[in-house]
Amino acid sequence: MEELAALERKLMDDIATAADEATIEAVRVGAIGKKGSVSERLKTLGKMTPEERQVMGPAINGLRDRVTQAITARKIELRDAAIEARLATETVDVTLPVRPAPAETGRIHPITQVTDELTAIFADMGFSIAEGPDIETDYYNFTALNFPDGHPAREMHDTFFFEPGEDGTRKLLRTHTSPVQIRTMENQKPPIRIVIPGKTYRCDSDATHSPMFHQVEGLVIDRQANVANLKWVLQEFCKAFFEVEHLNMRFRPSFFPFTEPSFEVDIQCDRSKPGEVRFGEGDDWMEILGCGMVHPNVLRSGGLDPDEYQGFAWGMGIDRIAMLKYGMPDLRDFFSADARWLSHYGFRPLDMPTLFGGLSS
Ligand code: DAH
Repeated sequence: MEELAALERKLMDDIATAADEATIEAVRVGAIGKKGSVSERLKTLGKMTPEERQVMGPAINGLRDRVTQAITARKIELRDAAIEARLATETVDVTLPVRPAPAETGRIHPITQVTDELTAIFADMGFSIAEGPDIETDYYNFTALNFPDGHPAREMHDTFFFEPGEDGTRKLLRTHTSPVQIRTMENQKPPIRIVIPGKTYRCDSDATHSPMFHQVEGLVIDRQANVANLKWVLQEFCKAFFEVEHLNMRFRPSFFPFTEPSFEVDIQCDRSKPGEVRFGEGDDWMEILGCGMVHPNVLRSGGLDPDEYQGFAWGMGIDRIAMLKYGMPDLRDFFSADARWLSHYGFRPLDMPTLFGGLSS
């Protein structure tokens, strides 16, 4: 009996001083678990005489009940204390201003925005996107596009050449996206309907020229693609891109080695207010792109028979149409990595340009 009382004092003391849920659980296992001190004593009841059991039964069972109750109560206490402590450290100060997420503060560069806009428009017309390498061979950049060796049009491109390689030929930074026309024809059977956005390079720098700039090229090849189709595609594109209902266009005869006939395209605009250009109104014109029917020699370079296939192509400066649409006066700012410029002229990352949702809204 004395010994039971001592055990009870010790257990009650352990329970009271247990400081966390793991410790109280250890005390529980040690007392009333399968091999716990109280459980072991309960097992001794079976070997006692009935007289002994009459005394010891209620004593040991009473001890077990009191210990169990004390453990349960302490467990609840400790759990509540743990929750209180956690709540105290995890309080949210709802009066703090919300910190903007990266998606709120980051900005999409106007070149990326305009590329997304024009690919959305051409994708809607059934075009796919094609890409090619920035470092090109002379063959793809010039020869295959009907610029014969020594042709003066080569000189007009202010090309960046690399040092000659082991075979004596010089690689170059592509001066236009047109080489991808050839690469696509080599790999894909007509009908072909592609747009080719990408970086291009020429040794030139002022407010409207940068040594690295962006072009988008279009190419359609099938058995009957013609100038009327070309005009329609460009007209629809310009209306959608500049977000106007009507837009007059002017096709002027021009020259490119890779098209015949070739045209330069002007769009109607109003430049009467200083520092502002409006499209679809006014009686002024602005040149925005070059285009034409693909030259038979170019079809041949691409492995196609010009008696079987014909097509049209166009090329325009992405930077230039971005400047026109969003009123940015100096091209060099596009590439100066000035965060203030980007936060002013950039676009919100979650506003994806689509034809149904609006391009620039
Ligand atoms: N490659 C020409 C340039 O960079 C642009 C161009 C004009 C592309 C007419 C074409 C085209 O595909 O048909 O000046």
